Amino acid sequence: MAWQGLLQEYKEYLPVGEKTPLISLHEGNTPLIKLENLSKKYQVEAYAKVEGINPTGSFKDRGMVMAMAKAIESGSKTVICASTGNTSASAAAFAARAGLRCIVVIPEGKIAQGKLAQAVMYGAEIYSIQGNFDDALRIVRKLGEHEDITLVNSVNPYRIEGQKTAAFEVCDVLGKAPDYLFIPVGNAGNITAYWKGFKEYNEQKQTGLPKMMGYEASGAAAIVHDRIFENPETVGTAIRIGNPASWKQAVAAREESNGTIDEITDEQMIEAYQWMAANEGIFAEPASNASVAGLFKALEEGKVEKGAQVVCVLTGNGLKDPNTAIEYSDVKPRVLPNDEEVVMKEIVGSVTL
Ligand code: F0G
Repeated sequence: MAWQGLLQEYKEYLPVGEKTPLISLHEGNTPLIKLENLSKKYQVEAYAKVEGINPTGSFKDRGMVMAMAKAIESGSKTVICASTGNTSASAAAFAARAGLRCIVVIPEGKIAQGKLAQAVMYGAEIYSIQGNFDDALRIVRKLGEHEDITLVNSVNPYRIEGQKTAAFEVCDVLGKAPDYLFIPVGNAGNITAYWKGFKEYNEQKQTGLPKMMGYEASGAAAIVHDRIFENPETVGTAIRIGNPASWKQAVAAREESNGTIDEITDEQMIEAYQWMAANEGIFAEPASNASVAGLFKALEEGKVEKGAQVVCVLTGNGLKDPNTAIEYSDVKPRVLPNDEEVVMKEIVGSVTL
């Protein structure tokens, strides 16, 4: 039978009651793609959970469908969120479909163009503040205390509930949990959600537990250094967060799973970003590749043994941030006149036949 969306498919694991509307944009059921070249190169069995395939191009749709359904169920007419871009895109899409008002607060100049375009197209009311994500979250948390407005950031527990389904899907495909789960860490909602999902599935289906391997950007590595970063900075704007809301839960996931929370530099992030596109044909946004950069780092440090089964979560689609792709590439189109002979000559001259 055709996929019917997360609320329908994983109903028995989610806070879905008789009055919960089973809304969907066909989120979830994203591919787990074997990383053939990475696996061969490092003698591991590596996969990518490609969350950029979701309807608004990121994993946020999993949590948003649940949070929005519960907001509708409770009679809320307005949702609000702070965002580095993906949460706002997802909230705006589901709100548009449900006929809810959507207010988003974003850090000025620090969100990828594609994400801003999405919020604009889905009709959100957009406020761009001269501050960072942490400032924006502080403000919307206050506004969310207003009884008519539902906060849909990952501090809303329904977001975590929806997002945990990604762990279920990984187990469903592999038949069990992988040995290691590599994941980018920003506000730390997603690592919290995956860990919850793996634990619940293990209780129900004995699928086992992975080591949780979370990676922050070194310019925004609050959990790694156990201090708030007042001025977080990274090319991976999605995870440019200095005071993660789910900090404690992320630390718990690390400790309970015997995993790690580490940092990667912007250079390592960009290297993984380009490597994945050029060698595996998978174009995920820069911050998403914190997971792959983390895997490269862990392999170099000997933290991951040969033959290990590894999943890297690729949280968002590369097309959301075309500017970074072009800025960091030395490949530029060669401009030629509209002349068949000249074009032929140029191409034949540059290829070895
Ligand atoms: N990757 C991408 C592409 C993201 O957009 C985010 C978070 C993360 C990873 C980190 O996930 O916050 O659960 O640890 N983006 C949020 C947003 C903050 O507003 O879209 P996290």
